[in-house]
Amino acid sequence: MCGIVGYVGGQQALPVLLDGLERLEYRGYDSCGVAIVGDLGIGIQKSTGRVTDLRKTIGDAANTTGIGHTRWATHGTPTVANAHPHTDASVSVAVAHNGIIENHDSIRDWLGREGIKFASETDTEVLAHLIGRLYRGNLEDAVRSALHEVEGTYGLVVVCAAEPGVVVAAKKGSPLLIGVGDGEHIIASDASAVLEHTKRVVYLDDGEVARVTASGFTTTTLDASPVTKEVQEIGWTLDQIELGGHEHFMSKEIFEQPASLRDSMRGRIDLGRSEVRLGGVRDFVSRFGRTRRVILAGCGTAWHAALVGEYLFEGMAKVPTEVEYASEFRYRNPVVDSRTTVIAVSQSGETADTLAAVQEAKRLGALSLGAVNVVGSTIARETDAGVYLHVGPEIGVASTKAFTGQVAVLAMLAAHLGRRKRRFPKKECAGFLADLAKIPSKVEEALRCDGQAKSISERLSGRDNWLYLGRGYNYPVALEGALKLKEISYIHAEGLPAAEMKHGPIALISDGMPVVFIATRGAQYEKIIGNIEEVRARGGHVIAVATSGDGRIDKLADDVIYVPDAPEPLQPLLTVIPLQLIAYHAAVARGCNVDKPRNLAKSVTVE
Ligand code: F6R
Repeated sequence: MCGIVGYVGGQQALPVLLDGLERLEYRGYDSCGVAIVGDLGIGIQKSTGRVTDLRKTIGDAANTTGIGHTRWATHGTPTVANAHPHTDASVSVAVAHNGIIENHDSIRDWLGREGIKFASETDTEVLAHLIGRLYRGNLEDAVRSALHEVEGTYGLVVVCAAEPGVVVAAKKGSPLLIGVGDGEHIIASDASAVLEHTKRVVYLDDGEVARVTASGFTTTTLDASPVTKEVQEIGWTLDQIELGGHEHFMSKEIFEQPASLRDSMRGRIDLGRSEVRLGGVRDFVSRFGRTRRVILAGCGTAWHAALVGEYLFEGMAKVPTEVEYASEFRYRNPVVDSRTTVIAVSQSGETADTLAAVQEAKRLGALSLGAVNVVGSTIARETDAGVYLHVGPEIGVASTKAFTGQVAVLAMLAAHLGRRKRRFPKKECAGFLADLAKIPSKVEEALRCDGQAKSISERLSGRDNWLYLGRGYNYPVALEGALKLKEISYIHAEGLPAAEMKHGPIALISDGMPVVFIATRGAQYEKIIGNIEEVRARGGHVIAVATSGDGRIDKLADDVIYVPDAPEPLQPLLTVIPLQLIAYHAAVARGCNVDKPRNLAKSVTVE
């Protein structure tokens, strides 16, 4: 969603801000803007569309303090007027804001009665006017006073014409960090915008305000009590957030999966002792071991990974497990107690609904764990403990390597719990871990189907409706395959448990309709063969993902993509690969913007 960059230091602010905004493009946005503090006041430049368009409209500015923003519209359409930064009437302060000011209507009415004219339809503009009105010679105090008036969420950067060389930042419910450089500081909503300048960062916590200058920063609470912050090192490298010869981040990330899965498992699988070692849950290991019920919460792709997790937890730890849409969980009066473990599954660690689910679970007394990718993200910090995915930065909006990382982490957590509860025999666990350790090289093999996936997509990307069907562990993969296709190629696709087809969706099958079956060898193989026959009989075009060496399926399906054999619980890590590739190539064939699909944001930080 929206992105924030702020700069104060010895360099010209403008190029740093524009480069930073480009690094944040992957989060999704529809307009952008910058505010630079100069001798003659604050200069604002905004644009609808891309940061490259903004670059074209903007001249040089030698000034060294500024803020920038990429906006994903919530209140008000994507217009130049609604783009951030917003200012007060005299352009003495400028504000860039992520989040939502919930009581903006009442503040707007009140300010309107005081004679303030608004230039935009946004909730953010009220903040700019409030800060301007409350300014008495100290920007930090004015921001603090304004924030006492507002309800809602914010990641905020503010500059002021009277205090060049100062950026004030504040956070509540929307991520914000300060990159600590040499004689300079970069404030951003996401580490990728600061990585080019520094790897040393300070994550702001909710309710904190920072006053940042070139030489240092101070942090305080909203009530002005000082807070000491720890400087942390980001583990990511610059080349991880660059294309490295790939045309799109999505394809780069699909092909990174052998390596990202190795990184996810590194140091965690002890084959000698048949044990899983998860340092991140060490302090809560006995409480986790007493768990009577597991709830997995997530959204979108993370929810699909959680569905695989449900099978894994029930299969290995024999603990009743449910999967919750994070957005529904907290509005449902969930029955949760201290023997419940709620695991938040999230790539970004910032998804607002998943965060709210964690907070609700904690309030109800559950143990909360995170299966999160972004180190230092809000969910990672709000949960009691957790296991990082360690798949590296995921820039493509369509989640790929995070899905396989989530499944791998849930598999390790499930095996760990199964062993603690003595419900997963040591010998079985040994076999499972040995198979898990082999998955990265099998993914390498599975990726060899790229050319075939491309040919299938090129032939069929003109079809407007696709079905994805799978059973057991591969049912969530069917859902994931359909989501991948629809979100980046805008083809309508539905994923279903294969047996459900006969309860209605079979009516959709028409001549040549692409139907993707995940038909790997396993307990339900014969059943899925029956489902394939049913689709064939109705003229559907069958694309099967099958186990290498399965000669039978070749005679039934129009296209077959083979993946290496693996035990059923681990098959999703392989069967998802051709589906990611089919979606990718279909989107390319249709000329879609693969990494920045329309209307989508990488991380959904509003509910
Ligand atoms: C789909 C996709 C989304 C995310 C969902 C949750 O490709 O990326 O469905 O999976 O928005 O995001 P995280 O995992 O960041 O909580």
